[in-house]
Amino acid sequence: MARLTLAFRSPGENFDKWQAAFAALMPDLSFVHWRDVSDPGAVDAVMCWLPPEGWLASFPKLRLVQSLGAGVDHVLKDGRYPAHVPLVRLVDPAMTRAMTDFVTFQVMRLHLGEPTYRRQQQVGLWEPHVPLRTVDRRVGILGLGELGTATAAALVRIGFDVAGWSRTPKDLPQVTCFSGEAGFAPFLARSDILVCLLPLTSATEGILSAATFAQMPQGAGLINVGRGGHLVEADLLAALDSGQLSEAVLDVFQTEPLPEAHPFWTHSRIVVTPHVAAVTNPATASLVVADNLRRLQAGEGWPDRVDLASGY
Ligand code: NAP
Ligand code: GLV
Repeated sequence: MARLTLAFRSPGENFDKWQAAFAALMPDLSFVHWRDVSDPGAVDAVMCWLPPEGWLASFPKLRLVQSLGAGVDHVLKDGRYPAHVPLVRLVDPAMTRAMTDFVTFQVMRLHLGEPTYRRQQQVGLWEPHVPLRTVDRRVGILGLGELGTATAAALVRIGFDVAGWSRTPKDLPQVTCFSGEAGFAPFLARSDILVCLLPLTSATEGILSAATFAQMPQGAGLINVGRGGHLVEADLLAALDSGQLSEAVLDVFQTEPLPEAHPFWTHSRIVVTPHVAAVTNPATASLVVADNLRRLQAGEGWPDRVDLASGY
């Protein structure tokens, strides 16, 4: 079988870790850093995060684009994406586990009133609040895909009253499933803690807005681990000011890194994490990519191929 050439491009770099992983897994693979590509015509596949506009179109024989993340909005930003080339998401069980751990931890923090006690501690205030039982806490998950489904199952195991919302109808054990436009309002009305695990597409951009917050129970919490583009930032600040929302945990932002002077950094009701809910780890993700490259060579399809029309 012909030797495959895979070009790598990511602002986060870590080329060496990927190279070491592929050397062990696929010794025949020619794995090249984008700066070292001497013949674009020899590149079969590309693995990337946030490729610059037109870069992918510069490979005349490209047969696969492997996203370095579960999301692909960073690739489809490229208005010159070569539409005939399959785009495959990164679906790594280790990342799914990381996401369920992260969201579970943040849901628990909000559920147990941790932000309130930290604020009370700062002013020396001893004021116990009656805790709610997990069965009485309604958690809503926007997006019931790979990550949303696993996260919902983890929260169900803990005992939360879990609902989810997706584009197409779903039937998941012990999760109240809503879908489509008609399901949005009843889903929001029962979301004491709302978790965003949607992909960023033209249909979901700005979905975390004043209109959405107004349909949630007063004092609800928000956890955004989807994308910064889902959130209308000014609407979040207004909802926290008015008390419509009580707390927000934000892992993703319109501009990353979050600018130094951004009001989120110092807001007493916002927790900021630097896009770390589920980080791509070459040690585990290389196994997934190796299988996707094997599929390319074998002429098989990819279960995690992106539908370019819907954008996820
Ligand atoms: P996925 O498997 O593609 O699932 C996407 C889910 O969103 C599906 O349930 C889909 O509905 C639903 N959806 C899409 N468009 C919708 C719409 N217009 N209305 C209602 N529901 C809609 O994606 P995933 O692997 O779970 O990942 C989700 C996102 O998480 C990624 O795109 C990425 O942005 C984010 N992420 C963040 C981090 C981080 O570290 N913060 C890490 C990884 C991923 P259907 O099931 O009906 O198609
Ligand atoms: C991270 O944000 C990802 O999409 O994997």
